[in-house]
Amino acid sequence: MLERTRRPSRAGGVPRGVEAIKLFIARVEKVISLVVICPWLRWYGLTIGRRVAFFGLPIVELGPGTEIHLGDRVSVVSRSGMTALGVGHRTVIRTLAPGAHIRIGDHVGLSGTTLCAASGIEIGEGTLVGADCRIVDTDFHPVQSRTRRYEDIPEPRPKDRIVIGRNVFLGMSVQVLKGVTIGDNTVVAAGSVVVDDLPPDTVCAGNPARPRKKLEFD
Ligand SMILES: CC(C)(COP(=O)(O)OP(=O)(O)OC[C@H]1O[C@@H](n2cnc3c(N)ncnc32)[C@H](O)[C@@H]1OP(=O)(O)O)[C@@H](O)C(=O)NCCC(=O)NCCS
Repeated sequence: MLERTRRPSRAGGVPRGVEAIKLFIARVEKVISLVVICPWLRWYGLTIGRRVAFFGLPIVELGPGTEIHLGDRVSVVSRSGMTALGVGHRTVIRTLAPGAHIRIGDHVGLSGTTLCAASGIEIGEGTLVGADCRIVDTDFHPVQSRTRRYEDIPEPRPKDRIVIGRNVFLGMSVQVLKGVTIGDNTVVAAGSVVVDDLPPDTVCAGNPARPRKKLEFD
């Protein structure tokens, strides 16, 4: 039987007309994504899987000799109206130094996310990145104060690579810094700062993020 009770009515929640308009806008955005944004990004040099959906225009920069890959059914939100939480800014995807890569697995959700890779960022299949997270594998400026102002970004090192496992959930405004690995299925609480590796199947929280409780799966 059809589920009728959740349908908003004029008497109660949002008028059906408003829902219909929202649905229509989302469909128009999917068409724009399919016929404008995806082809444009492929032309620019990204590899993009099937049924990738961009809601709003992301900021993308593919440095020379670098790679950006988005798997099948990835969704990338850059427009506030598309999610309940809204997003603070458009999604940013940038490779900063030759040899850098950003690889995003199938079914990953990004929402107002910043991804900046000087070495490499990998996000596993099915991972959800909450609103306004930042994932950056470089400090951007040298720690040494004498050279900080005018130097380029610090020399990228392979050990700075960030690897986020499969089916991870990053809560809103999580910051993931250089050189960390986050295990499969792990949940990182809102506002956490990840500076050390986090194990799989665990709720982690805080600054610095630490394991808080083990997750049990049937
Ligand atoms: C991570 C989260 C899902 C965990 O929920 P939960 O399974 O109910 O976990 P609990 O509330 O039992 O918290 C476990 C521990 O982490 C701590 N913790 C939870 N969230 C925290 C946070 N954001 N910052 C610091 N500590 C936090 C709890 O205080 C608790 O600590 P304790 O064991 O010392 O008591 C939840 O805290 C959270 O961050 N929700 C927001 C998710 C979000 O951002 N969604 C929007 C995405 S767009």
